[in-house]
Amino acid sequence: MKNGYQQILLLLREHTGVDFSLYKTTTIHRRILRRTVLNKHNTLEQYAGFLRGNPKELEALYSDALISVTSFFRNAETFAALQHKVFPKLLQQGGDEPLRVWVLGCSTGQEAYSIAMAFTECVERSSHPRKLQIFATDLSGCGGSLWRRTAATASSSRCGSRWCLRGRT
Ligand SMILES: C[S@@+](CC[C@H](N)C(=O)[O-])C[C@H]1O[C@@H](n2cnc3c(N)ncnc32)[C@H](O)[C@@H]1O
Repeated sequence: MKNGYQQILLLLREHTGVDFSLYKTTTIHRRILRRTVLNKHNTLEQYAGFLRGNPKELEALYSDALISVTSFFRNAETFAALQHKVFPKLLQQGGDEPLRVWVLGCSTGQEAYSIAMAFTECVERSSHPRKLQIFATDLSGCGGSLWRRTAATASSSRCGSRWCLRGRT
């Protein structure tokens, strides 16, 4: 017999095809608890019962569980390593083909745009010109217009006026 938590993961998997048992348990558990309380249930078993045959709530939980938080240059240390170590090394190797980057779990695209900006700044300082192709995917499916809005608000302090596209859509 599965406990409430396991039942919920199973219902999510049946509804979305995503197996959340492979995700960080504490994070998913917290998200499930949040929706349990929000829907005024006392136990995970009760919430599992509420979820069964309830596509609207399954979608809401799915969306919560994916956690789409993002921002420009979100992990400063990683971007510093990309700019000062990884990109210079790749550029030094030379080559005619564009370099390719795949941003897995891109949310609304800020990480992909940050990589493009970081690479552009790097390639301009290099004597080895090279193009970059970025592929960005996410389970939650970002639409084209959403990405255009992301580009239009590329205005983190790091971006400065050069990358600030605010007002253009
Ligand atoms: C916390 S956000 C991180 C966004 C971005 N990578 C960043 O670091 O700013 C996590 C994203 O991963 C996506 N995600 C979670 N599991 C995924 C999977 N199996 N395949 C693709 N995207 C996934 C979610 O939809 C969410 O948008």
